Amino acid sequence: MTAGDLVLEARGIVRTYRRGDFAVPVLIDLDLQVRRGEWVACTGRSGSGKSTLLNVLGLLDSADAGTYVLAGHDVSGLDDTGRAQLRNRLLGFVFQLHNLLPRTSALENVATPLVYRGVRRAERLRRAEAALDAVGLADRADHDPGELSGGQMQRVAIARALVGDPEVLLVDEPTGNLDLAATQEVLDILDRLHAEGRTIFMITHEEDVAEHADRRLVLVGGRLHDHDSAEAHS
Ligand SMILES: Nc1ncnc2c1ncn2[C@@H]1O[C@H](COP(=O)(O)OP(=O)(O)OP(=O)(O)O)[C@@H](O)[C@H]1O
Ligand SMILES: [Mg+2]
Repeated sequence: MTAGDLVLEARGIVRTYRRGDFAVPVLIDLDLQVRRGEWVACTGRSGSGKSTLLNVLGLLDSADAGTYVLAGHDVSGLDDTGRAQLRNRLLGFVFQLHNLLPRTSALENVATPLVYRGVRRAERLRRAEAALDAVGLADRADHDPGELSGGQMQRVAIARALVGDPEVLLVDEPTGNLDLAATQEVLDILDRLHAEGRTIFMITHEEDVAEHADRRLVLVGGRLHDHDSAEAHS
């Protein structure tokens, strides 16, 4: 594996929350490498630090120590503005609570990230249409989130994450609120994106969802372990 194949490369990541005199170490000397095109699933007990990790990887939070190279960009020394720019250019997010704008059409929701990239409106709508089409929702473009099912809302959120053609999709509990059929729809889409070469880092607490990934990691004791190793289950 050469360095050029790596899209996510984190070394020695430390993140400690402070509450008054107490320090809560959450990520402790954590390492992670994800290759381009790989689909990695991360599980871990509640409170193990999965969301904290995703926030660091997603440049929503910064580590207290360690290095993090995202698609060849060393982000360790960046300020908030620099991080926001890289986040917008390189990353797509799908969260459990899809965070769609209410009373705003699916098409406008999907187009929103492109506003921050300075893409002109006609082009934004054209790309949003293509992204909605890619998740099988072209015919729901003018529906508000309130007029969509939970599974459809999550597919709109995936389209929004894809519209900027990100290097990496960061996914947190994508099926957490969904019934079996809607979970399957979301998994089918993620399977297809993976087959098309998209890099995916996904957090889930559902074993059968995690099994769709190429590689499984477990967050235990502030570090990532291979799912099959003994430490992962200690
Ligand atoms: N802003 C904060 N201030 C202080 N402690 C925090 C903060 N955010 C999270 N924590 C603590 O950090 C630890 C990890 O939290 P995190 O949300 O990353 O866990 P998680 O693995 O995502 O859990 P879940 O599966 O329940 O979503 C927990 O002990 C939590 O209480
Ligand atoms: Mg969490």
